[in-house]
Amino acid sequence: MRIALLAVALISSLAAVEPAIIPLPKEMKMGEGSFPVVESSGEPRAGIRYDRELEGIANLFAADLKERANGDIKLVKEELRIKLPHEIRLDLDTSLPLKPGGYKLEVKPEGVTVIGKDVAGAWYGTRSILQMLPPKGTEVWATTKGVYLPAISITDEPRFSWRGMHMDVGRHMYPVEDIKKFIDWLAFHKLNTLHWHLTEDQGWRIEIKKYPKLTEVGGFRDSTPPYGNRDSDDGKRYGGFYTQEQIKDLVAYAAARQVTIVPEIDMPGHMAAAIAAYPEFGNSDIPNYAPKVRTRFGVLYDTLAPTEETFKFIDDVLTEVCALFPSTYIHTGGDEAPKDQWEQSPRVKELMKKEGLKDGHDVQSYFVKRVEKILEAKGRKLIGWDEIREGGLSPKATVMSWRGEQGAVDSVKEGHDVVMASTSHLYLDHYQLPKNPELAKGVEYEAWGGFQPIYNVYSYDPVPKALNAEEAKHILGVQGQLWSEYIRSYDKLEYTAFPRIAAVAEIAWSPLEKKNYDDFRSRLDPIMKHYDAAKVRHAVPLAAPKRETKDGGTIQTSLGTFRPLFLWPELAYDGDPETFFWSAAKVKADDYFTLTLRAAVSGKVKVVTGGKIGPFPDHLESGVLEASADGNTWTPVADFKSGTAEGILPAGTTNVRIRVTKAQESWFTLGEIVFEK
Ligand code: ACM
Repeated sequence: MRIALLAVALISSLAAVEPAIIPLPKEMKMGEGSFPVVESSGEPRAGIRYDRELEGIANLFAADLKERANGDIKLVKEELRIKLPHEIRLDLDTSLPLKPGGYKLEVKPEGVTVIGKDVAGAWYGTRSILQMLPPKGTEVWATTKGVYLPAISITDEPRFSWRGMHMDVGRHMYPVEDIKKFIDWLAFHKLNTLHWHLTEDQGWRIEIKKYPKLTEVGGFRDSTPPYGNRDSDDGKRYGGFYTQEQIKDLVAYAAARQVTIVPEIDMPGHMAAAIAAYPEFGNSDIPNYAPKVRTRFGVLYDTLAPTEETFKFIDDVLTEVCALFPSTYIHTGGDEAPKDQWEQSPRVKELMKKEGLKDGHDVQSYFVKRVEKILEAKGRKLIGWDEIREGGLSPKATVMSWRGEQGAVDSVKEGHDVVMASTSHLYLDHYQLPKNPELAKGVEYEAWGGFQPIYNVYSYDPVPKALNAEEAKHILGVQGQLWSEYIRSYDKLEYTAFPRIAAVAEIAWSPLEKKNYDDFRSRLDPIMKHYDAAKVRHAVPLAAPKRETKDGGTIQTSLGTFRPLFLWPELAYDGDPETFFWSAAKVKADDYFTLTLRAAVSGKVKVVTGGKIGPFPDHLESGVLEASADGNTWTPVADFKSGTAEGILPAGTTNVRIRVTKAQESWFTLGEIVFEK
């Protein structure tokens, strides 16, 4: 078990402390002694002997060690049979009984061996070593105290093959050098997929040689809502794009670090920028057709037209995309494509008649099936957001499930593979700390909305309960989303992603049986020291809320708790004005929330509902606040008006109750119940 930092110094000579590795390895066993990466004299330093097939990762790992140890790290090929004085041996053994990406790592005083099931496995072994070492740039590397790895034996393999982070460069883009840094951190946490959302209503970011206007016109917008006011426009031209040379460089950089970049060209919706550049591929036969690169965010009405000219355009674009990205999967979006334009289009009506399509959903399905054929002819697989289910899923599509689990469950039962990207746990553009204190730090702390603390991300199991073990094999994995409406810079992207990226990595990699938030949280502090040493901006996670009120009060409620978020009823009376309870959906008349106090109160009481989550009011629309001295007889104190009830409690009150008087569609949040003496 891990022990408190203070105790480490005292007993380090007696017991080895498990290193803090995220994601947690499958099996770890501490050994005796340690291996010197740098001897206490400052010399000599460890060297790396490697299997020829591991030359690429050996070079990268040597560079990592050199950067830290500030000196030569000897590198020799295995067949040279030169024994190095302090040897880290990187090897391959395809017969290891582990999944792809698995590895064995043995640290003994006389040497270190990393044996990968494959190249990725060996690479992950080196990432575990880096996490066991002191962070880059920390003082110990510069002293003559020496740097040691604890003797340990690790056997490790990933739970899922798709371990991803998504990055939206459509709304805001980031410099190539910063994206490389981000890829380094994906690798640090054994994530292997960067889902690169390259096109949006607000900007087309990938150079396509055959259609230069995509970037010349579609790469730029006239304005952006500034932080702090989404209903206004800063009036500043914004834009840019990635050249094919930059993309090739980035793809190679990622591949060397065992990260696959999966490009997304989002269609038929989220295409306004492309349609502004080439209006002929939109629904140009509808009234008042005036496409432009969009300057506001949201679900917009521009969709591609399902015409032969457009499918030719898509084919051409995907030809260039496939030449740049070797990824098996090509993401073609499919989300949030309104059917309004199609409904107005005589051309689409004609197509519907010809193809027997009864509604917009059928047109969407027809569209996605055509795109799948295009990709199939190029030897690639289509992955799309779960809306590609609308009107019937194309035969071989893989689904990226973002809107709850039902689409994932249905897709799996129909035999499709699925990647989980659920809004409820994995949308990292939601606040990770309570909104009000965040915004108090400055408008640039604005997030999309919602509330997605790290303990919520960590609580997610990518395999829906409705699937049996055989079906669960169709869940390829999981990824965190970084939609960038409110992520205007790479600094903000880091702050948004870290440290929640560590939770994504652990749910993607570590065995479910070992899942334990407190243990994860204890490993996160040392991991955040690696972030700090590299000057990575990150949030300091909120403590996971305890189910305790202050003063020993108890709560009874019929309202349920919106489960994923740990927003327990007790948070409405825990002494912290920022924490809050969130009811489950569909509030009914006579639903109640009762706080029973240990000591009687009297005087003023104030109860505020709503205003805690995202852009929604989420307040109690109709209700009454009541008081009781015995829990049986109730006296009305105040009605809720605009979500707030305020009144005077009779002497001797030991129970206060919120009683719903009318059913409502929206849920409600309840902040701190405040008594004023
Ligand atoms: C999405 O959030 N529109 C996939």
